[in-house]
Amino acid sequence: MIQKTSEKVGAVLVVGGGVGGMQASLDLAEAGYKVYLVEKGPSIGGVMAQLDKTFPTNDCAMCTLAPRMVDCGRHLNIEKLTYSEIESIEGTAGNFSVRIRKKARSVDIDKCTGCGECVENCLVRNIVYLEPPAVPKIEMEEDMQTKVDAIISRYEGGSESLVPILQGITSELNWLPRETLMRVAEVKKIPIEHILRIATFYKAFSLEPRGENIITVCMGTACHVKGAPRILERFERELGIETGQTTSDMQFTLEAVRCIGCCGLSPVITVGDDLYGKLTPAEAGKVLEKYRD
Ligand code: FES
Repeated sequence: MIQKTSEKVGAVLVVGGGVGGMQASLDLAEAGYKVYLVEKGPSIGGVMAQLDKTFPTNDCAMCTLAPRMVDCGRHLNIEKLTYSEIESIEGTAGNFSVRIRKKARSVDIDKCTGCGECVENCLVRNIVYLEPPAVPKIEMEEDMQTKVDAIISRYEGGSESLVPILQGITSELNWLPRETLMRVAEVKKIPIEHILRIATFYKAFSLEPRGENIITVCMGTACHVKGAPRILERFERELGIETGQTTSDMQFTLEAVRCIGCCGLSPVITVGDDLYGKLTPAEAGKVLEKYRD
C-alpha cells in the first residue's frame, strides 16, 4: 500500500494510462509538474494498444501510441504506477491525499527482461500439464472425424496452430461443433478452456450451426450513416429472422459487424466471400434472390 500526500507543490495525479492519460501526463510533465500516472492494468497503453488501425484516418495505432509510451517511460517528471488502483482521495484543491493500492506482480519488475522463461517454468502450468483432468470420450460421426483429423494434421505445433485449425473446421462445416473442439484439444494437447477462449473471441467462429450463406452487414460508422440499418432491417424482414439468427431451412445466417475495411464502398455487405458495396435496401432484396436455392 502506498500513501502519497502532496502539499501545494504542483504534483498532479493522472488516472488511466491510455493514450489520453499518457498525452495529458506528457503535457503536464513538460510544463514542469511532477506527474503520478496511475493505471490499473499491468502496463500503460490502454485499448489503443489492441488496435491495428484507427478510424477514420486509418492510421496505424501503434505508430501513434508507441512514441508516447516511450516518452512516458523515460520522462523524469512522470512516475508510473501500473497495476495500481486508487482507494481513496481526501483533502481539498491544492492539497489532496491519495491512497493507492499496488497489486502484487509476482515478478521483480526491475529484473524482468520479458524473456518468457518464467512462463515455461511456471509450476502452476506444469502441474496442469502433468495431471490433466480426465477428458470425456468424444463421440463423433466417422465422416466428421476424418475431416477434422485431416485439417488438424495439416498443421504442426501446439496452440500456435489453433486459429488456422479452427478456420479450417469452420470453412468445412460452417461452425464449430463441440466434439470437433474436443478432438482438437485431445490431438494437440491444448486445454479446452483455451480453445473456447479463442473460439468465442473471434466473430468468424461460431459455436452454433450457421446457414449455408452467411450475410454480414457492416454497421460501422461510415456504413451506418449511409443507411446500413435500413439494409439490415430489409434482410430481417425478407428472411423472417433477427440479426444473429439462422433461417429454419439453414440457408441464411444474418450477422452485423463493425467496419470490414471498405468504408469507401459504404454501405457494405458480404455474402460468404462475395462483397457488395454502395447497396440500397431494394438491391439487398435482389442479392438475396441470387443465393436462394
Ligand atoms: S464502416 Fe467501414 S466498411 Fe463499413
